[in-house]
Amino acid sequence: MVSTWNNAFEIGIETIDAQHKELFRMLRDLEQMVLTKCSQYEYNDFVKLICEVRDYSTYHFYEEEKIMEVTEFLELDNHRKQHIAFKEEINKINYIQLEKEPLPIINELKSYIELWIMQHMLLEDTKLRTYTHKLTKN
Ligand SMILES: [Fe+2]
Ligand SMILES: [Fe+2]
Repeated sequence: MVSTWNNAFEIGIETIDAQHKELFRMLRDLEQMVLTKCSQYEYNDFVKLICEVRDYSTYHFYEEEKIMEVTEFLELDNHRKQHIAFKEEINKINYIQLEKEPLPIINELKSYIELWIMQHMLLEDTKLRTYTHKLTKN
């Protein structure tokens, strides 16, 4: 399980690190739902959390890309594509199915975000570390 934030994820830009911690918190909420087989939650709880993931990630990606623009991050185009792919994945959620049988969908979303954290946040976002000096200059 990757649900606990640790120093390996730290970039050194306070706002971005705080936003990443918030995404970890959402992953933990999803894990909690899966652990209880979704039995203690209602449809509205799932929708609320999914909307939170969608809205918060949109906000976070915007903020992160803004910093990447300012610091002239070299892989910004590719990075942006990965952010778009994440948003598309969230938009694919079938709400009719979610209401009928939430567990498979919540479990799939949890696994997707886990993978995202290991592949994107840990390997791609952390590349920003080498650019942080460009922020303090201004
Ligand atoms: Fe990113
Ligand atoms: Fe990020």
